[in-house]
Amino acid sequence: MPAWSTESPNTVFEGDNLAVLPTLPDASFTVIYLDPPFNTGRAQQRRTVTAVRTEAEGAIAGFQGRGYERIRGDLLRYDDRFDDYWEFLEPRLIEAWRLLADDGTLYLHLDYHEAHYAKVLLDALFGRASFLNEIIWAYDYGGKSKRRWPAKHDTILVYVKNPKGYHFDSDAVDREPYMAPGLVTAEKASRGKLPTDVWWHTIVTTTGREKTGYPTQKPEGVVRRMVQASSRQGDWVLDFFAGSGTTGAVAAALGRRFVLVDSNPDAIAVMRTRFALMPDVAFR
Ligand SMILES: C[S@@+](CC[C@H](N)C(=O)[O-])C[C@H]1O[C@@H](n2cnc3c(N)ncnc32)[C@H](O)[C@@H]1O
Repeated sequence: MPAWSTESPNTVFEGDNLAVLPTLPDASFTVIYLDPPFNTGRAQQRRTVTAVRTEAEGAIAGFQGRGYERIRGDLLRYDDRFDDYWEFLEPRLIEAWRLLADDGTLYLHLDYHEAHYAKVLLDALFGRASFLNEIIWAYDYGGKSKRRWPAKHDTILVYVKNPKGYHFDSDAVDREPYMAPGLVTAEKASRGKLPTDVWWHTIVTTTGREKTGYPTQKPEGVVRRMVQASSRQGDWVLDFFAGSGTTGAVAAALGRRFVLVDSNPDAIAVMRTRFALMPDVAFR
């Protein structure tokens, strides 16, 4: 089968993303959205990734040139769990950087366990000037601790490849209702307001229209804003922790093209059903 190119149809790959990503050409994608699992089967992954890292030791100085190895060394000593996680994520983020178009944007979806360490490491890896936003996705669902503030948000770190030339179109983003519409003109209230970096959005409910049955499925409304703002019609969007295929569903509905990767056969089965009525999707 010929290698994937930007002339190919929308494509879903089944396999470990670290094996699939090197087959994709540089700078092909305008948006990369990643929602990695925190528990990653690390025991198996670790040996290979450590070997890669040993070979590359000293080679990754951060895309902006300085300090990444030192920051990583300092930071990873604090938390073994995060150390394992970063061993898994780091080579995949390096591939993400290679695959981003010059005007492209990475959205990395994390929760409070990882977000702060990841922010420091990504600043060093991508370059601090490439940091665009920390988006908070706030929801209010499920059990609530009475011993601390219940944690009801995720963090989405946003990095651009080229801070001087990235695509961002706020006019293309769905607007939302004002919290206090009485404080603005009727015209403004009816137009709605531009979302900020705090996004209130319900999770995918057990009875909702979007529900696929995949346990970690994210709402289309959350991913839609990213794709609307950071890509144009016809651009390519990549999600290599695709799960139920939310990113593909959103991209297709907005006239973008997509590549999705997942290693779990259950995810592939869910995507086959979700995209069954879409004419132009290849499964590889
Ligand atoms: C949190 S889920 C993503 C959910 C997705 N955002 C959605 O809306 O359905 C993470 C996905 O990453 C996949 N995954 C984990 N490790 C992987 C790897 N090494 N290669 C490819 N996929 C992987 C899992 O199978 C899982 O489906």
